[in-house]
Amino acid sequence: MYILAFESSCDETACSVCEMAEGKRIVKSNIIASQVDTHALYGGVVPEIASRAHIEAISKITYEALEVAGVSLDEIGAIAVTNGPGLIGALLVAVNFAKSLAFAYKIPLVPVDHIKGHIAANYITHKDLEPPFLALVVSGGHTSFFDVKSYTELEEIGSTLDDAAGECFDKIGRVMGLDYPGGHAMDLLAREGDKGAIKFPSPSINDSLNLSFSGLKTAVINYINTTRQRGEELSCADVASSFTKTVVDAIRSKIGSALSKTGYDKVVLAGGVSANSHLRAGILEECGKFGAEFYAPELCLCGDNAVMIGAQGYYEFLDGKRADESLNAYPS
Ligand code: KG4
Ligand code: ZN
Repeated sequence: MYILAFESSCDETACSVCEMAEGKRIVKSNIIASQVDTHALYGGVVPEIASRAHIEAISKITYEALEVAGVSLDEIGAIAVTNGPGLIGALLVAVNFAKSLAFAYKIPLVPVDHIKGHIAANYITHKDLEPPFLALVVSGGHTSFFDVKSYTELEEIGSTLDDAAGECFDKIGRVMGLDYPGGHAMDLLAREGDKGAIKFPSPSINDSLNLSFSGLKTAVINYINTTRQRGEELSCADVASSFTKTVVDAIRSKIGSALSKTGYDKVVLAGGVSANSHLRAGILEECGKFGAEFYAPELCLCGDNAVMIGAQGYYEFLDGKRADESLNAYPS
């Protein structure tokens, strides 16, 4: 069946058509209207500007997604839409648009959780991947371990208690004057630095699967500011490299206990930060120690997109999940 999917939880307006069936996970189109350049002027996502930009983009990208896929609305079997978590004004744009289309064309409407969507990006990249498995979602808003029991059921078994890892990459990148958002630029810069140059405090919280990134973020920003105030030379590459190693080591340190807690032998990475080359390499190495298989989405499906919403929407549809005209969005 063809699934038309929408995503507008933050600063990407996205629409896709996927063809899903047993043994079939095909992307027919994947259209993303990014607002990155607009928000770059402010150094972060401005919620009201994001909502307005979603409104401007959504009809156009829907036409485009259907045209690229070569599929008409009459052939769509279900409409999937992210209804949370995210920026409320941003979410409401796609929720309302999807709702109108669904009711006008009498197509079943399926609400999708954004986090489950990120995990589902892996079903597209790895055609044979099936739950159960251990998932690690690392994005601009989340850093959590999940016991993924089935395609639609998951349990959070550990999480950051404050900032998300992506948020730290972005804030530190901003303080160092890197391109917005900082994550990708930090990834490249970290390859040129000495990862042992600076000792930063670990975000790992002992004896639990929880993490805390706010202390690390403050320590790195203080280090940058103090070095500058003293008139000493700041090696941004060493900062990026040492910070990244601290994050990767902390996440790695949780993999073994998360695997033994769940009893699984598969680790699935997801979310925008899953594009990070150091994190991917570190988790792959850690999985090797435990004889676990490692999965991550292809780079174009790591960040926010509608393909992942279509993939998850398909499994929610099979599970009987439907929304009616009262569907709302939830921010957290
Ligand atoms: O999943 P996502 O697109 O949006 C949320 O749901 O939050 O994640 C965006 C985050 C941003 O913080 C961005 O800087 C980060 O993912 N990111 C990266 C990389 N690419 C994107 N962080 C580290 N390394 C990267 N290569
Ligand atoms: Zn996301």
